[in-house]
Amino acid sequence: MNKQERRNKLIRKREESTLGGGSKRIESQHGKGKLTARERLEYLLDKGSFEEIGAFVKHRSNDFGLDKQHYLGDGVVTGYGTINGRLVYVFSQDFTVFGGSLSETHAEKICKIMDLSLKNGAPVIGLNDSGGARIQEGVVSLGGYADIFYRNTRASGVVPQISAIMGPCAGGAVYSPAITDFIMMVEDTSYMFVTGPNVVKTVTNEEVTSEELGGASVHSTKSGVAHFTAVNEITLLENLRNLLEYIPQNCEEHVPVLEYTLTDENRQVLADIVPENPNQPYDIREVITGVIDEDSFMEVHKDFAENIVVGFAKLAGRSIGIVANQPAFLAGVLDVKSSQKAARFVRFCDSFNIPLLVFEDVPGFLPGTDQEWNAIITNGAKLLYAFSEATVPRVTVITRKAYGGAYDVMNSKHIGADMNYAWPSAEIAVMGAKGAAEIIFRREIKSAENPESAWKEKEQEYADIFANPYRAAERGFVDEVILPEETRIKLIKAFKMLENKVDNLPKKKHGNIPL
Ligand code: HXC
Repeated sequence: MNKQERRNKLIRKREESTLGGGSKRIESQHGKGKLTARERLEYLLDKGSFEEIGAFVKHRSNDFGLDKQHYLGDGVVTGYGTINGRLVYVFSQDFTVFGGSLSETHAEKICKIMDLSLKNGAPVIGLNDSGGARIQEGVVSLGGYADIFYRNTRASGVVPQISAIMGPCAGGAVYSPAITDFIMMVEDTSYMFVTGPNVVKTVTNEEVTSEELGGASVHSTKSGVAHFTAVNEITLLENLRNLLEYIPQNCEEHVPVLEYTLTDENRQVLADIVPENPNQPYDIREVITGVIDEDSFMEVHKDFAENIVVGFAKLAGRSIGIVANQPAFLAGVLDVKSSQKAARFVRFCDSFNIPLLVFEDVPGFLPGTDQEWNAIITNGAKLLYAFSEATVPRVTVITRKAYGGAYDVMNSKHIGADMNYAWPSAEIAVMGAKGAAEIIFRREIKSAENPESAWKEKEQEYADIFANPYRAAERGFVDEVILPEETRIKLIKAFKMLENKVDNLPKKKHGNIPL
């Protein structure tokens, strides 16, 4: 072969690899209106930045007629590129090649970019669209999955890992996204389950559709498996680009900080959010948006465990993670799901040096058999543990209630918070004044001429002493009582003051969070 023939061969192979791998439309039932594997990468990455790795890889299987079916790339497009100028590693599964199923070589390609991501300290993003293990290949495809799971685990906490589910993600395949930091799903066209509707029918006799079993809406509201959903693929990919704006490239990097010049940081809008009546709900998102930079809140797990709100924001250009009780939902109580949701978010932020801001308005833990039987003890402990071990800058603002064990858990000074502020509306006590009076003044109330008014009197007495922030401030458990409108400037200064914080955990292999 002469030089020109060699060049022509390469050009032909390149054409074959892009045509046969990643560029075809999905024609099967679930593929309507979907982008190709390569189009997805085009929307995700900066224009012209994608560099492919392993375009000519072919599978090595000869069983079940596979020796006659070879597609260059073997059902997954892998490589690297940039998002807003920052390096990322990517894989994009191609459902048009054996249903995007994972063969030995398909897995090797994914592992290769995961290894590069770990060595070079940049995020890895998986665009999943696959029927699971390639059935014709048997154990080598199962091994391929395990190779990926192992790498997901080793990379956890070192580089951010994000999974976008663009189609099916079934069987053991779900466990790679499950180990990654965030799962994003497309409404109506993506689904995740360990066992599909047919197996469910056989084993439990339950009739259920793929959407009902594992669609985006189920996983974003009931199971909490999905952190974000989007109406279509393009919106999902835009959201993914946006998410990376808040996150460092790896665990050694500091958070991204945009340039910001202080002006008038007083936010009068914050003054009137908490109602006069302490039992009246309000939306904590109003407090969040009143404090942070305009339009900077990216909420995580928006529709799951709505009694706690978590998400990323910018404060004077600096990325922060926010955890906030939500009085507008279940009065903001802590329960099993909200504890899990917040604990996972806190640990993500701590892994990647993202400072934490907590807004606290919590009447306590939710009582009841449902909660106790579903291990509120173990699950509440997760949040306590997550805050306690976090070494990033941590600041709390108590807007209203800080009652009982929940006071301790929600980033109290006692578990390592750096700065704790309270608004004048704060109530910091073991329990609400009514219940407290009933317990500690039971005898006096019972023997009073008018027990009802005696109870009211004692309730008032307890409230006067504890339903305010000053007892806590006297002890230094609250550093400063501030006016709501001053909150933004206080927080900007506090996070600036804490930007070089160094705090190390005692030497250990790893802790044993109550899972
Ligand atoms: C090989 C597969 C495949 C697979 C799909 N295909 N899944 N080939 N291995 N796992 C092929 C089909 O044969 C078909 O090929 C093409 O992909 C498109 O599939 P359709 O069925 O026509 O598409 P659709 O109707 O949209 O249904 C999609 C689907 C379905 C729901 C994903 O294909 C399906 O149920 N696939 C099997 C899912 C599964 O059970 N996987 C194994 C899970 S166990 P042709 O040539 O006809 O176009 C697992 C273990 C992991 O993954 C272990 C880790 C611990």
